[in-house]
Amino acid sequence: MRLKDKVALITGSASGMGRAEALRYAEEGAKVVVADMNIEGAQEVVQEIIENGYQALAIKADITKTEDIHNMVDKTKEVFGSIDILVNNAGIFDKYQTSLDTDLDKWNFLLNINLTSTFQLSNAVLPDMIEKQNGAIVNIASVAGLVAGKGGAAYTTAKHAVIGYTKHLASEYAKYNIKINAIAPGTIETPLIKDVADSIPKDSVPAKRFGQIEEVADLTVFLGSDEAKFMNGVVVPIDGGFTIQ
Ligand code: NAI
Repeated sequence: MRLKDKVALITGSASGMGRAEALRYAEEGAKVVVADMNIEGAQEVVQEIIENGYQALAIKADITKTEDIHNMVDKTKEVFGSIDILVNNAGIFDKYQTSLDTDLDKWNFLLNINLTSTFQLSNAVLPDMIEKQNGAIVNIASVAGLVAGKGGAAYTTAKHAVIGYTKHLASEYAKYNIKINAIAPGTIETPLIKDVADSIPKDSVPAKRFGQIEEVADLTVFLGSDEAKFMNGVVVPIDGGFTIQ
């Protein structure tokens, strides 16, 4: 077991990649907090984890709310004692909306969920990680954080900024034995992209297919585990070769 006795808080883990990450983390021995605004979905994931013989806790949280962020962190520490791994996974997509089609409310909404939550949650867990001189943060960015044209104006900006923030955090906190990295998934079949998946040609991917949630989950396990202990501030594409073109 690669994450034995670690406590992992995974946002947006009621669905899609986050759900797969929660299941894989539990299989690897972590105690998992399934945090999501969709509490019914989160409870279903927790039930599945417990039925598999592992430990998990569902917490209802809207990551755009500072109060929910602190509540989520406090509850996790109350039940499991600490937070060793934070996976900033929750996000929403803007379906390729152009800048002119994005009003300020939409822009702020997209940036709050996809970017500001990562900043707020990282700040909420880092003090304990610094004290323990141990920890891992895995930020789910996107290929839209590396190139243009894989999201709309706000999504592309937010995901580029998540990568910049990841590098900055690593430069500040690597000295405390905290590894902070990002991953950049290409198109992965999840509910997030169900409305647009048909319009994305599989031929645009060298691997000629979209990714699977389990493939992303495996990468997040690696980056959360001690196997990645000398990796800091990197962004790992998991995209079937999309960004090498
Ligand atoms: P999904 O839509 O299947 O799951 C997202 C989860 O986040 C849902 O359970 C939702 O309830 C939760 N969520 C949304 N807003 C929230 C909020 N304010 N507070 C708490 N929870 C909230 O999405 P998917 O595809 O699994 O995406 C996960 C991450 O991966 C996102 O950050 C997304 O931007 C990123 N990503 C997805 C790609 C894809 O092709 N599916 C490609 C690249 C990145």
